[in-house]
Amino acid sequence: MTHPQKKKVAVLISGNGSNLQALIDYQRLHADSFEIVTVLSNRPDAYGIERAEKAGIMTIVLDHNDYDSREAFDKMMIGLLDAMEPDLLVLAGFMRILTPEFTQHYAGKMLNIHPSLLPKYPGLNTHQKAIEAGDKEHGLSIHFVTAELDGGPVILQASTEIARDDNAESLQQKVHKLEHLTYPLVVDWFCQDKLCLQDNQVLYQGQTLAAPLTFTDFNIEDDSCENAG
Ligand code: GRF
Repeated sequence: MTHPQKKKVAVLISGNGSNLQALIDYQRLHADSFEIVTVLSNRPDAYGIERAEKAGIMTIVLDHNDYDSREAFDKMMIGLLDAMEPDLLVLAGFMRILTPEFTQHYAGKMLNIHPSLLPKYPGLNTHQKAIEAGDKEHGLSIHFVTAELDGGPVILQASTEIARDDNAESLQQKVHKLEHLTYPLVVDWFCQDKLCLQDNQVLYQGQTLAAPLTFTDFNIEDDSCENAG
């Protein structure tokens, strides 16, 4: 049963769902602001579906291979998701390009986490790209979703040093740890009405962000954010 004051969150996944798990754990321990009402996967074999079922969350499996077009698939997703009346859609490793119709429908109500310090490395293989570029640091960005792939206004970034012996896998693990710490916080802020998108800009606690918030060494630099966590 859903709680009337809590924001309804729908999480979209395609795979492992470790970020989903972080959200489930956070919701259990800390969050009065939101409830995950459904988890949708476009892949029937996504392990995240098991995680959701274990947590007693309603799941929707919608195999994109069963649809003739991206438009038809997205239309079906909209119908199923809207039946749950979500306040927020959280993309957590959802590996599908969304149609403009879908992104427009949920404008200002959809977040994504991307494993790079955007605008660096949109798309795939970000860890390898950062290593090959000789970058000293790498990280993640949490952003509002717009029609542009990995291009919406960034809310928060977290970074980690690239060590000399890091490879794509070790770097991915470091970034994943940061993802699990930061994504639930940002979802919580949104659901506490501390965060919104206005005129394509991020408003945090009523202030337009001139630059993304940062999360360094497990401490948020901005004081007001510390309180929010
Ligand atoms: C994460 O690295 C996230 O940044 C990206 O997809 C991955 C999902 O991992 N968007 P998981 O399924 O949450 O473990």
